[in-house]
Amino acid sequence: MVAVILAAGLGTRMKSRLPKVLHPILGDPSLLWVLRSLPPRVSRALVVVHHGKDRVQAALAGWEAGGLLPCPVQAVDQGEPLGTGHALQACIPSLDGCGAERVLILSGDVPLLPSGRVEALLDRPAALLAMELENPGSYGRVLLGAAGTLQGIVEARDLPSGLPEQRLVNGGAYHLPWEGLRQALGRLKAANAQGEYYLTDAVTDLAASLPVEVLRGDASELAGMNSRRDQAALEALAAERINMAWMDEGVSFLDPGSARIGPRVSLASDVTVEAGVRVEGASAISAGCVLGQGCVLRDCRIGGDTVLRPYSVLEGAEIGEGCVVGPFARLREGTRMAPGSHVGNFVETKQARLGPGVKANHLSYLGDCEVGEGTNVGAGVITCNYDGFRKHRTVIGKGVFIGSDSQLVAPVTLGDGAIVGAGTTVTEDVPADALALARAPLTLKDGAAGRLRARLRSRMG
Ligand code: UD1
Ligand code: MG
Repeated sequence: MVAVILAAGLGTRMKSRLPKVLHPILGDPSLLWVLRSLPPRVSRALVVVHHGKDRVQAALAGWEAGGLLPCPVQAVDQGEPLGTGHALQACIPSLDGCGAERVLILSGDVPLLPSGRVEALLDRPAALLAMELENPGSYGRVLLGAAGTLQGIVEARDLPSGLPEQRLVNGGAYHLPWEGLRQALGRLKAANAQGEYYLTDAVTDLAASLPVEVLRGDASELAGMNSRRDQAALEALAAERINMAWMDEGVSFLDPGSARIGPRVSLASDVTVEAGVRVEGASAISAGCVLGQGCVLRDCRIGGDTVLRPYSVLEGAEIGEGCVVGPFARLREGTRMAPGSHVGNFVETKQARLGPGVKANHLSYLGDCEVGEGTNVGAGVITCNYDGFRKHRTVIGKGVFIGSDSQLVAPVTLGDGAIVGAGTTVTEDVPADALALARAPLTLKDGAAGRLRARLRSRMG
């Protein structure tokens, strides 16, 4: 089974430089949602592209490399897009070439269609998905014949005046016999309000020669993204659907309306999601974790019973069990925290491996480093990993104590059990159990503070 996904349009109503189908819903672009909804019996997908095609093709390549696509995907360049029917015409050589008997057609701007509903469409020989709307707006109106099958689709802008209001609208998802559709595409004319070749006209034409079933879908599944308002509505719809499903699996949401959990995220039972949390990408949160208010995560794995305190931002991080992070921590790509380690407020980490029980609780930058088990990183400790040209590594052993406000100038190694005195700039390797201490001589003058204050006060006049 071959699927065609329409994704070449400009998306004029979005008023955006980004191609419409790359606009995200809960962190995943609309087109990725659509591709991931393809059921297993779809063995190949054609994505019709044109506007912003370099970006769309780069996105497709990235998703393929990341193993996110359920089947092989090939881009077909429509050339200047002249309508949804024209988009199908551009696929004729590919569809003929693979001997397609029937074709599944989906819109790249209808992201929330569940796989199960696509399956239902594929179970019928010729069918489309429609929905009832209070305000049918810009959707094509679906007209039914006496037998309840499709009589025709009329685009909103072509509605003749005086036609009674029609609430059943076209969801833009079809399963149709290819030979009949191909012939109808050959007869398409652009004699309509938009001067476009409408796929809906070809489907109307096809319905004259064979019954096309009209399956009802839910408005929350078939909503299209044509404007920024639609995008905001879709994000809210998707969030509600996902959050409700996780609550049924034993996840607590303190303020579900404000939490945003992406479609590829997994949450175990007894996870608590506080207000304003956003989790995106392929993140996995284990049982008993607390995601504190305002935390933002992308592509992270969090071990059981770990607490992320409020306003921590984590990207590409792997956190073990029983860790504590934040508040206000920033864990960047390649951060690995072993079980029971702590990273506190205003600490930034990148490519940092923290061993079991490591504590870095205040105001640090830990980049390109390894920190051994049980080491204590004092407030304000900085790994100086960049010399203006290259990045260098810092290797810190087990049970090391690094005093506050120390700088570790990489490349540098601190052996197990070493102690670094507060305020030391470490520029050489420190052997195991050695004390590294850099001290400028301290001057103490008895009573001088009082004399200085008096002098300064007298200058105030
Ligand atoms: C379309 C349908 C409408 C339906 C609605 C459902 C037509 C003529 N109208 O309207 O009946 O109710 O979807 O969401 O089909 N595209 C191309 N090439 C083109 C034009 C569009 O690939 O030349 C793509 C767009 O990128 C988009 C999809 O097709 O992903 C639908 O196009 P859009 O302009 O959004 O059509 P709608 O006005 O939403
Ligand atoms: Mg649309």
